[in-house]
Amino acid sequence: MQKAQVRFDRDFIIGETDRRLFGAFVEHLGRCVYGGIFEPGHPTADKNGFRRDVLDLVRELAPTIMRYPGGNFVSGYNWEEGVGPVEKRPSRMDLAWKSIETNQFGTNEFIDWCRLADIEPMLAVNLGTRGPDEARHYLEYCNHPSGTTLSDLRREHGWEKPHDVKFWCLGNEMDGAWQMGAKTAEEYGRIATEAAKVMKLTDPTIELAACGSSGRKMSTYGEWERIVLEHTFDDVEYVSLHTYLNNYADDTPSFLASPDLMDSFIEEVVAIADSVAARRRSPKRIMLSFDEWNVWYRTRRGDENRIQTGWPVAPHILEEKYNMQDALAFGGACISLLNHADRVKAGCLAQLVNAIAPIMTETGGPAWRQTIFWPFADFSNLGRGRVLRTYVDVPTYSTRYYDPTRTEELYDRIETVPYLKVSAIHSETDQTVTLFLLNRHLSDGIELNLEATGFGTLTKQRAHELRHDNLLALNTREKPDEVKPREFDAVEAADGCVSMKLAPASWTVVRFDVSK
Ligand code: AHR
Repeated sequence: MQKAQVRFDRDFIIGETDRRLFGAFVEHLGRCVYGGIFEPGHPTADKNGFRRDVLDLVRELAPTIMRYPGGNFVSGYNWEEGVGPVEKRPSRMDLAWKSIETNQFGTNEFIDWCRLADIEPMLAVNLGTRGPDEARHYLEYCNHPSGTTLSDLRREHGWEKPHDVKFWCLGNEMDGAWQMGAKTAEEYGRIATEAAKVMKLTDPTIELAACGSSGRKMSTYGEWERIVLEHTFDDVEYVSLHTYLNNYADDTPSFLASPDLMDSFIEEVVAIADSVAARRRSPKRIMLSFDEWNVWYRTRRGDENRIQTGWPVAPHILEEKYNMQDALAFGGACISLLNHADRVKAGCLAQLVNAIAPIMTETGGPAWRQTIFWPFADFSNLGRGRVLRTYVDVPTYSTRYYDPTRTEELYDRIETVPYLKVSAIHSETDQTVTLFLLNRHLSDGIELNLEATGFGTLTKQRAHELRHDNLLALNTREKPDEVKPREFDAVEAADGCVSMKLAPASWTVVRFDVSK
């Protein structure tokens, strides 16, 4: 048994979690839209073709904001082809995912779906094959009340009121060679600024995210952020970050350490953004939009998925089957995001259904929760409030994280990895403190003592853990509940002392009521 000491104080606050931190992502990719959220003819479909079984799971998962329509897809997308009478919408070759896009689902349907699910929409404009003109027209169609051809077209299409979409992404992963219309930092910085200018003239109430690097592994990482922000600093509110954790090397301790690289990534991007501000002597702070994050590797390099034969509609691509250890690494990523709540103001789990997703469906059949569903539901439902600065004293290990997609070095050295990764959230509204705890030790439990200053008495309100004797266990159509949370009893709170015993390789969430 390892021993750990965790301390925090009511007044030592990292930041308040923004509602938008708990978002996800719906891309026209594989069966995320078609056969995922939208399947007319499915036994549970409503009059709009929205699957109600999926909607129920989405409500349980509780994402707050939803990015759409891509991803790589958006860089070749013509939004006009996804609005208006459905029977007149064209079928197009989607070069991003080598599929046919039927355009039966488009922006208006997406907005309706978001409203139904009580989720804020986040839209991305195409700065790959198109540019500022398309971006301002898309925005005008969505947000302008009436009296112009485009706003009246929306009304004619049946959406009288403006969609009032506030959060817009200026393209997607424009630094990536795979992206349609990929650009250098200078080229992107210029076009993003010009798009931002005409978009904010069209609707000054919007907020904009410029593309950061599509991963910390990119050879242009760092310089990309600096140059892009030198151009866009005055026009945008956010810069984006993307990360997909992997276990290519089949090295579980390293995999579970890898969320710590997200901590470094966030802190580095903050430093770069603030250096751009400093050079301008500006008090403005660019916030971070971590608008793609997840675990993704089994279906990432698999050519069978990306380069399928023919041009199918809604193919079964990127249908990653998540196991127990993926859920643990994923939980670590949730903790990394929470612990940077001062600067990461938006986040999107990529993605929502079927394609690298917490929810799986069978077309025409049932829907079920993947293992990663559980830590995300905890994160979103219980992670709202003030994130407290935690002091964690626990044994550490060191590791080398293998990432075959890195260009220069195959390994990231992570020298000091605490076996316990923690986040503590104080909700003044609910009068609670919630702990998110990841025990990364594969064979040892952790005996933890807690010292919480400034809260009076802590009384356990609820606690559960996610673990499985087999780290490769997963949920399937046949066994949808193989991996699911169970009550956690090994917590004692008496006479102001709190202690608990965490199981090896486990994700535990404990919520306490506080007396002040
Ligand atoms: O989420 C899957 C893909 O990963 C997205 O389309 C792209 O932006 C990223 O490379």
